[in-house]
Amino acid sequence: MTFSSFCPFQRWLPRLLLKQRDALALLSLTEVLSPLAVAGTLCQEIIMASVNRLMRAIRVFEFGKSDVLKLCTDVPVPSPMENQVLIRVHACGINPVETYIRSGTYARTPTLPYTPGTDIAGIIEGIGKEVTTFKNGDRVFATSTITGGYAEYALASVDTVYPLPEQLSFKQGAAVSVPYLTAYRALFHRAHAKPGEVVLVHGASGGVGIAACQIARAYGFRVFGTAGTSGGLDLVLQNGAHAAFNHREKDYTDKIQEATGGKGVNVIIEMLSNVNLSNDLRLLSAGGRVMVVGSRGSIEINPRETMAKESSIIGVSLFCENKTERNESVAAIFAGVEAGWLKPLIGPEYTLDKASQAHEDIIQTSGATGKMIFVI
Ligand SMILES: NC(=O)c1ccc[n+]([C@@H]2O[C@H](COP(=O)([O-])OP(=O)(O)OC[C@H]3O[C@@H](n4cnc5c(N)ncnc54)[C@H](OP(=O)(O)O)[C@@H]3O)[C@@H](O)[C@H]2O)c1
Repeated sequence: MTFSSFCPFQRWLPRLLLKQRDALALLSLTEVLSPLAVAGTLCQEIIMASVNRLMRAIRVFEFGKSDVLKLCTDVPVPSPMENQVLIRVHACGINPVETYIRSGTYARTPTLPYTPGTDIAGIIEGIGKEVTTFKNGDRVFATSTITGGYAEYALASVDTVYPLPEQLSFKQGAAVSVPYLTAYRALFHRAHAKPGEVVLVHGASGGVGIAACQIARAYGFRVFGTAGTSGGLDLVLQNGAHAAFNHREKDYTDKIQEATGGKGVNVIIEMLSNVNLSNDLRLLSAGGRVMVVGSRGSIEINPRETMAKESSIIGVSLFCENKTERNESVAAIFAGVEAGWLKPLIGPEYTLDKASQAHEDIIQTSGATGKMIFVI
C-alpha cells in the first residue's frame, strides 16, 4: 500500500494546521484526528510534525451545562493574519454572557467547537504583516478575540487591541473591557445621564456594578449601589458609592427612596431586571430611566407606572455599540486610569482547569466581590 492511499489527508491536513484561520485555527489535534482515527498513527505523526506549538485552551464541542467546557492541551497556537496580533494571554475576564452562550440559549451562538472569552490581557507574541501599531513584547488588553480568550494564546484583530496602561496589572486589564464599556454605555450613550443626577447601581458589587460606581462617582453623580452581603456593601462604598443598600433586605427600596428625599432616582443601572423592574419603576424620579443591563427571565410590570412620571425603560447592549461610541468609551477609560479613579476590582480567580466551576459560580453564587477572572 502506498503512503498516499494509506493517509489520503496527508496533503490538506498540514496546510490546514499551518494556515490556522479563524475557527479552524483552533481545531485541536484530538478534534482533527477523531474522525480520521481509521487513518492510523501515521497521520498523527504527520500532523505533529507540522504543528509548531500547542497550547492549553478551553473547547466547547456541544452546547449545554458547565461540564461542556473541556480543557484541551493539544490546541495549535494560531498565527496572526495581516491585521491580527497573537497575544499570550495572562488573564481573561469571565462574563455571565459566556454562560448563556455556552448553554446554547443566547441569541448569538458560535459555530462549534469554539473557545469562549473576550476580555483578555497579556503580551503580544506575534503580529500580522500589516500591523504597525504594536510590536512583540507590548503589554495589551483586548475588547474581543477571534479565537477565544479562555486559552494560553489568542488572536485578536488589531483594532480591538489597546496598550495596557502601566498602572494596571494583567488581571485588571482583563477586567476592563466588558465591565467598563457596558457601564459607560449604559450611563452616557443610553441614559444620557447628566452630572448631578442620582444614579442607582442595582447590583453594584460585581464586574459591571463596580465599574458603574467608579465612573458615576468620577463624573459627578450622586451614586447609590446595592449588594447582597456586608462584604459586598463595603466594596461598593470603597468604589465610589455615596451610600450602599442590601438588596436582600425586605425594606431596602424604602431606604433608597428616603435617601433621595422622596424625589426618586434619576437613573437605575439594573443588573437583574427580571427581579427588580417593577420596583424600579416606583423608585424613579420624574423623567427617570431604568437601564436594562442584565435580565435572566421575565417579569410582570404595570405600564401605567411609567405614565405619571414619564419614565423610560431602556435596553443596553454592548453588541450594538458603534465605532464612534467605542472610541469615546475607550478614551474615557484611559482618562480614568490616568486620573487614578479607574481601578478594576478583581474578585475570585480561577485557573483554566476550573472553568466549569467558574461558570457555575458566576451564575449560582451570591456575594460578588468584583470581577471574576481566569489567571492563565
Ligand atoms: N447588556 C449588556 O451589554 C451587558 C454587558 C455586561 C453584562 N451584562 C449583564 O449584566 C449583569 C451583571 O453582570 P456582571 O458581570 O456585573 O455580573 P456579576 O459580576 O456576576 O455581578 C452580578 C451582580 O448582580 C447582583 N445581584 C444579585 N442579586 C441581585 C438582586 N436581587 N438585585 C440586584 N442585584 C443583584 C450581585 O450582587 P450580590 O452578589 O452582592 O448579591 C452582583 O452585584 C449580568 O446579567 C450580565 O449578563 C449585560
